[in-house]
Amino acid sequence: MDAIADALRELRSRYIERTPRSAELFARADQHLPAGNTRNNLYLEPHMPFLCEARDAELTDVDGNRYVDLLNDFTVCVPGHSHPQLLAAASESLSRGMSYGGCIAAEAELAECIKARFPNMEQLRFANSGTEACLYAAQTVLAARKRSKLLVFDGNYHGGVMNFCAPNVAVNVPFDLVRVPFNDTAAFHAALAEHGDSLGAVIMELMMNTGGCIPATADFALAVRDATEAAGIPLIIDEVMTARLGYHGLQGQYGISADVTCLGKMIGGGFSAGAFGGAPEFMQLYDPRRGSFTPHGGSFNNNVMSMYVGLVALRDVITRPAMDEMNQRGDALRARLNSLFEAADVPLVASGGGSVMNLHFGRSLPQRANADTRSKPVQSLFHRHMLVNGYWVAGRALMALSMANNDEQLEAFLDRVSDFVTAYSGLLLEMELSHA
Ligand SMILES: Cc1ncc(COP(=O)(O)O)c(C=O)c1O
Repeated sequence: MDAIADALRELRSRYIERTPRSAELFARADQHLPAGNTRNNLYLEPHMPFLCEARDAELTDVDGNRYVDLLNDFTVCVPGHSHPQLLAAASESLSRGMSYGGCIAAEAELAECIKARFPNMEQLRFANSGTEACLYAAQTVLAARKRSKLLVFDGNYHGGVMNFCAPNVAVNVPFDLVRVPFNDTAAFHAALAEHGDSLGAVIMELMMNTGGCIPATADFALAVRDATEAAGIPLIIDEVMTARLGYHGLQGQYGISADVTCLGKMIGGGFSAGAFGGAPEFMQLYDPRRGSFTPHGGSFNNNVMSMYVGLVALRDVITRPAMDEMNQRGDALRARLNSLFEAADVPLVASGGGSVMNLHFGRSLPQRANADTRSKPVQSLFHRHMLVNGYWVAGRALMALSMANNDEQLEAFLDRVSDFVTAYSGLLLEMELSHA
């Protein structure tokens, strides 16, 4: 591990040289915000690059460094950063004012666009974020079923306070949880047999996003759907990130249908938004025309910008052909990355589906989150290497293409990945051997 520590140190020094103004801004931010930030996955030691502009597929930091954006705000920005129709929609909306505190037509129109993609969201409600959407989805189903137990899968992430990527997250909402390993059908059946009578809901990602872009195997996804249906236990599918992977999300690709679906990220067209919805059995809970109903508030639930720009995004910009093209480009990129790693005979592998992917240490695709402890330092190395070469990927080596990423950018990126492999193949092979 000394070699990787040395390599990281060298990249760190190059990064520090490129980012003096960011260092100043970090010192100031650090006086007020823990580790100078308000979103832990952005943290970088000794300081993050502070961004000041985003255009199409390019980010600029306060030091004037430009980056090809291959992360697109962790999957949010499907159309890129400055799609003309979205900029026009935002300006038009802004010209009519900001928070109204009343209903607007765009809420129902956005709901219609969402239902065209997810017909099983027969009724839905908006929220401020994916986290909120998942929290509401779980609480709605548990309340409707008058049961307290929620089954979740290890490595799944449903928001900052529903984070099952680590054994104990101190700020997680204290749901009465049953935790089951992901992609382990036998363990799931066993948990259902043990807790089925008291389970109120199962919540899952069909591809773990934060857990490393690891898809559910088809057998596992179908087994979860079949068994929950047979037992009469509602299944909540979190498509906050995966809605970008197909017009009908990943449910469409797996050929399954959730009882309640959670959305977020792209549905606000670049502004904060979340949505959860399903059958009236669950959603009517919020209808005040019924004798007993549950209040659902939220000052920004129908935020004017999110509703209107989200509507234009889903209706006119993130169209089925545009999504397909972006996801095909992602599939091709991931295939090229894996061919490159195989040809160079290095222990690296890119997981994912469509436009999202994640680099891991190893020679085969992982089935679980955090399957190999060697991935983390290698992901950091990749991140730092890309940062000093002008490519923006996540610290955990997550990449998510937008419609604005073009073939020319991806070819140039593949050259930088090739440089990475050439520079560090010895180190990677040594890491592999030292564990054997
Ligand atoms: C699958 C999934 N669910 C929920 C969330 C939380 O969404 P938000 O960050 O908008 O709160 C995320 C965010 O990354 C996610 O990937």
